[in-house]
This record gives sequence, structure tokens and C-alpha cells, in this order.
Amino acid sequence: MSTPAPTFLSGIQPSGRPHLGNYFGAIRQHVDSLEEPGEHLFFIADYHALTTVKDADTLRNNVRDLAATYFALGMDPERAMFFRQSDVPEVTEIAWLLATVTGMGLLERAHSYKDKVANGIKPSVGLFTYPILMAADILAYDSTIVPVGKDQVQHVEMTQDMATHFNSRHGEVFTRPEARLPERSDMAKVPGLDGQKMSKSYGNDLWVFEEGKALKKAIGRIPTDSREPSEPKDPSEIQLFDFLALLLEDQELQEWKDRVEAGGEGAPGYGHLKVRLAEAFDDHFGPARARYKELMADPAELDRVLLRGAEKARERAVAVRDRALQACGLR
Ligand code: ADP
Ligand code: TRP
Repeated sequence: MSTPAPTFLSGIQPSGRPHLGNYFGAIRQHVDSLEEPGEHLFFIADYHALTTVKDADTLRNNVRDLAATYFALGMDPERAMFFRQSDVPEVTEIAWLLATVTGMGLLERAHSYKDKVANGIKPSVGLFTYPILMAADILAYDSTIVPVGKDQVQHVEMTQDMATHFNSRHGEVFTRPEARLPERSDMAKVPGLDGQKMSKSYGNDLWVFEEGKALKKAIGRIPTDSREPSEPKDPSEIQLFDFLALLLEDQELQEWKDRVEAGGEGAPGYGHLKVRLAEAFDDHFGPARARYKELMADPAELDRVLLRGAEKARERAVAVRDRALQACGLR
């Protein structure tokens, strides 16, 4: 028997401007998955963003910004259902059903919750039950593959647990998904401008469409030391190479590393590496940045595209919701 085609699904919160980590860990994988057969659903997790974004206009703008970013970077709304999470309210119903089979202990173990609290976010019940809503997002469409960065893997594992608990109590309703990480581990966990994991909440992120002086300034923040260019150095100890590795072709990257390792007259200093990094960043994101600006100039069109995506996605979620209600005796 042939296995059915996979259903890819993932989401990103509209909680600020998407950064290099979001791009390599998530957005790029989502766009690349369009080349694989199967169905593709990607959404903007605005219900989730309410756990941290308090202002209505900010949230609305962030949603459009993230949609324009995705489309500029190659997401094709003709090939994927691309939508806003809150346009499919059935996920909140499914989340309630899942909440009734989820132990407190499972949620208490969530790293992401613990990290956010440790970073000073005052936790709401919504932040605590965030993984249940995320599980509902995934299970609502019978998703099988969930492409995410490393920090979201535990949430996908929790989704598997919730599906298993629900199914063992009420029968085979939900499909168990698998997480998928980028092939390269440096893309699954991109470092921030200060060396920790890059994250909006740590203020160490680099917006994918940064340009000009602001770009130079951000790259200027990447830590270096005071050694002279001529002193031979181990490239694996130089953080700038973590970023260059994401953006340069292998051969060019190796040449820079060889020159830094050899040292001596004419070896590149940190300033040279930073200039090359800014150029490579511009080459990589410049064309998409121009498209992004065009798309942002027509917010009504962005809204229309999102609504079209939601119509199709919603049909699927309604069917799964009905199946789940039936199974637990609510129909
Ligand atoms: P942030 O930590 O900046 O708030 P999100 O939690 O909104 O980012 O993450 C959105 C997506 O981007 C997720 O799939 C997540 O795994 C991925 N992601 C976030 N930060 C990184 C990073 N530094 N490296 C790789 N992927 C990341
Ligand atoms: N929690 C994810 C993040 O912070 C966003 C998200 C919400 C998500 N629902 C999802 C990711 C479902 C994958 C699948 O990035």
C-alpha cells in the first residue's frame, strides 16, 4: 500500500519583525517544502501572539508584516493554504477538548514556558496553556509534518502525547504528527548578535530586511576581541563565522577561514569580515526586501489573500472538529 501524501503545517507568531533565526529555522523550510508533494498549510499565530502583544494596532500590523515577509521570501498562496490562525476559530474548540485530556504535569515541563517566565514575562493562564492551542493547530488539519526550529520540538512532542491521550480515551480521532528540523543544525538554532539563541524576546535579533546603517550597526554588535588581524586564529572560536556560514557559499567561506587561520600580512581583520557579512546579507535579502516593500503598500490585498487561505483551511478544521465532538459525546 502506498503511504498517503504528507500534510505540512507550521505557524509563526506575529510578535515582532521576523529575524534571521525565524528565517533559517522556520520560514525557509516552509517555503522549500512547497517543492515536496503533499498539502501545505502555514499560518500566522495571532491567538498565540496575544500572550505577549498587548496592543491591537500593533498586532494587526504585525500580521500584515509577517504575511508580506512570507510572500516576499517565496511563500506561494496558490500552492499553500496561508492564513491567519484566528480565521479558523475551530482550533479554540479543539483546544478545549485537548485540555480535558492534558495533565498539568505535561504543561509544567514545557521549556518554552519556563524560559519566558525566567525572562520576565508575567505568565497568564494563556501562556501556560499555549502548547494546548498549538497542539490544536496541528491536529485540526490532520498534519503529519511540522517544520520548526529546535525550540519548538518539545511542543510537537507534547502534541503527540495529547493526540495519544485523546485517541486512547475516545477512539482514533487525531493523526500523530512529527516535527521536522532544518537539515543543518546551525540553521535549527541560529545564534543572536550576543551569542545566545537569537530571539525577539532577548533583543539580540537581526530583522531579515534590515538595511543600510541599521544593518551595519547590528552587525557591529557581534562580539569580537582585540587581537590583530595578523595573529593566526581558530575560526571556530570566532562568532562572525557562525553568521558567514549561513550566508556564504562553502568555497568562499573556506577561503576566509583559511586566511584567518594562517594570519600574517594581509590576513582579514574582524572589520573585513563584518563588511563581507553585510554585503552577503544584502545580496541574500535585498531582492525580497524590495518585494516586501511593494506588498506592504497594499494591506487590503494582503488581507484578501489571507482570507482566501483561511476558507480552504477552515473546511478541514470543521471536519476534524466534528469528528472530535462526535467521538467524545458532544454530538
Ligand atoms: P522568537 O524566539 O524570536 O520569539 P518564535 O518563537 O516566534 O521566535 O519562533 C518562530 C519560528 O522560528 C519557530 O519555528 C522557531 O523554532 C524558529 N526560531 C526562532 N528562533 C530561532 C533561532 N534562533 N534559530 C532557529 N530557529 C528559530
Ligand atoms: N509556537 C510557535 C512559535 O512560537 C508558533 C506556532 C503556533 C506553531 N502554532 C503552531 C508552530 C503549530 C508549528 C505548529 O514559533
